[in-house]
Amino acid sequence: MDAAKTTARYAGIALGCMLSCTAHAGYDGLGRAPTAAEIAGWNIDVDPSGTALPKGGGTVAGGQKIYQTMCVSCHGMKLEGGLGPALVGGQGTLASDKPVKTVGSYWPYATTLFDYIRRAMPFQAPQSLTNEQVYSVTGYVLHMNGLLPADAEVNAKTLMSVKMPNRNGFYLDDRPDARNVRCMEHCLSASKR
Ligand code: HEC
Repeated sequence: MDAAKTTARYAGIALGCMLSCTAHAGYDGLGRAPTAAEIAGWNIDVDPSGTALPKGGGTVAGGQKIYQTMCVSCHGMKLEGGLGPALVGGQGTLASDKPVKTVGSYWPYATTLFDYIRRAMPFQAPQSLTNEQVYSVTGYVLHMNGLLPADAEVNAKTLMSVKMPNRNGFYLDDRPDARNVRCMEHCLSASKR
């Protein structure tokens, strides 16, 4: 093909693209809108407020069994850690030279513990647990940290009412030269102010 023909050909392709792009504004024609079920499968985050926690629940006793079959190999018989981090202990160490950050010593919310376990554990098979199993094993981890009794039912209400020991341990950087204004919406325009 000679140069003139090649140029004409590419110009044609470009024109064709422009025409079809104008005909289909935005991303129309690419992919399709997700179904509500598809969004629900992906949209699983639970924030500290816990309002997005699912229905249903489990028990600390049920969680002990799940822990012993699915978590013990990495987190240890007494949740002391191994391949995975310790899930208990560390209270009183955060301000020391060797802070031990665990669910009991560091995590500010029980609601996000549910979120983390559901999203990421067991490590080799994330999102393989049912919500009931996640409620149960979350409850067991909290129980082993002394935050729920052995006979507790574990559901959205329970998790929202657990007061984690380090709940008030997080604060905005208060050094005078750190501009650290919390922003939850319209942050791009807020940052220009
Ligand atoms: C194959 C090993 C493995 C198994 C099995 C496993 N975990 Fe983990 N877990 C890990 C590792 C590794 C991390 C650290 C991941 C990271 O920091 O990115 C972790 C992190 C965690 C944390 C966060 C700890 C923290 O303070 O940051 C929790 C909670 C947890 N696992 C709970 C569980 C529960 C509950 C189960 C069983 C349902 C489970 N894990 C099974 C390896 C495992």
